[in-house]
Amino acid sequence: MKKLKAVLLGAGNRGTIYCDYALRKPEELEIIAVIDTNGFRAAEGAKRYNIPKEKCFTSLDDFIAANIECDFVVNGTTDRYHYETAMKVIGAGYNMILEKPITSSKQELMNIVNLAKEKNVKILVCHVLRYTPFYHSIKEIIDSGKIGKIMNMQLNEHVWYGHFVNSYVRGKSRNQAYSTSGLLIAKCCHDTDLICWLNNASAPSKVSSFGVKSFFTKENAPKGATQYCYECPHKQSCMFNAYKFEIEKDFIPFYTWHGIDKPLNEITLEEKAEYLKHNVYGQCVFQTDMDIVDKQTVSVQFENGSLATLNVVGGTSKAGRHIHIICEYGEIVGYIEDNKYKLRVFDKDEITYHEEEIDLNEINDIDKDDNSVIGHYGGDHYLMQEAMKYFNGLSHSVCVTDINDSIHGHLVCYAAEESRLNSIIVDIKDDLIG
Ligand SMILES: NC(=O)c1ccc[n+]([C@@H]2O[C@H](COP(=O)([O-])OP(=O)(O)OC[C@H]3O[C@@H](n4cnc5c(N)ncnc54)[C@H](O)[C@@H]3O)[C@@H](O)[C@H]2O)c1
Repeated sequence: MKKLKAVLLGAGNRGTIYCDYALRKPEELEIIAVIDTNGFRAAEGAKRYNIPKEKCFTSLDDFIAANIECDFVVNGTTDRYHYETAMKVIGAGYNMILEKPITSSKQELMNIVNLAKEKNVKILVCHVLRYTPFYHSIKEIIDSGKIGKIMNMQLNEHVWYGHFVNSYVRGKSRNQAYSTSGLLIAKCCHDTDLICWLNNASAPSKVSSFGVKSFFTKENAPKGATQYCYECPHKQSCMFNAYKFEIEKDFIPFYTWHGIDKPLNEITLEEKAEYLKHNVYGQCVFQTDMDIVDKQTVSVQFENGSLATLNVVGGTSKAGRHIHIICEYGEIVGYIEDNKYKLRVFDKDEITYHEEEIDLNEINDIDKDDNSVIGHYGGDHYLMQEAMKYFNGLSHSVCVTDINDSIHGHLVCYAAEESRLNSIIVDIKDDLIG
């Protein structure tokens, strides 16, 4: 396999996670340039991948003007910049790994797909869950036909309250006006992608959805609560006290302290405490400018008559992604957190079923002590492993599909939002591309 050259666009958390593959597998990948509009991050990226000064950029336009050859660009910019940057990268003829969501607008999605076709550019969307041993193995069983075609899929996503508060109540995905994505597209385009990819023998045709914000609202703030936790009379008793959450527990430090341009291990306690006095991470969870829902349900009908439902709930005791697929001659049931699922196959003679546990903890090769490969249950690492084959033009797993088979889940999200906001059933049949 030829060693590939990649360029990092957006040297934040996600872009770095993908590019770190080059540090683990230097014989397969080299990061040759970095672009970040934030000079500090661009410089940190350059240091991390040993990139010379002349290949460290703070503007994508400057990078494109420099005409640097590479096999692909890793686009790890934030949601609101995906469209603008993706169009420039494709326009310049580069292949790209593009973070999800591709974009939050259907028209923009179509523009990206059409330009990629015109320029003959390969785009690999970071639907990292596809690449996990759990969903990959489920996909192989479905595609084998062993239990027949999918009739019904039930997916549930429970977002643990620590994660939900950090990313969707105080975090940068809390406000659609700012981030451009609502909860569904930001958190669940993975789940809608799974629904469509696992069932890609057919295409989604109708969608309906309900979604509400009912807990993280001003009305639920304790009486007399102040906007910032540091001065709040309830700070000792409140389970969401920012000091406990963000300093003592410090669940997701690379998000919380993102606004301080310093390496994480150099930020002092005093700096953190001061930061929380004026940053949204220090605000009362009932009084931030969160404008997205905290729970949503989605129903999807496919052209072949199969159905799917997705439930996402933000603020649960435990994180959990559960799947139950009912096929013509069997079922699949499991939680990705367990990394194993039950496969039930009908027993025609006894009019019952056989149940087998597929335990992926036993058969996958991931080193569970290596933090750099366990992100998204191994999905981040396996995505890059497959990307090496894809951009080398070699045969790859069923997880990698071209952009046409990566957009159905996004179309379901857009339709669900239209349904939720207008209380209608949305027909997406005519919107499909390709
Ligand atoms: N696949 C997944 O499961 C998953 C998980 C979390 C986040 N994400 C997505 O990953 C993306 C990045 O999230 P993150 O948490 O790494 O964000 P981040 O803020 O840590 O990193 C984004 C970086 O992009 C830079 N940037 C923004 N606009 C730019 C531009 N026009 N040109 C160059 N650089 C630019 C920022 O300065 C920042 O350094 C988001 O779209 C997010 O939704 C995906």
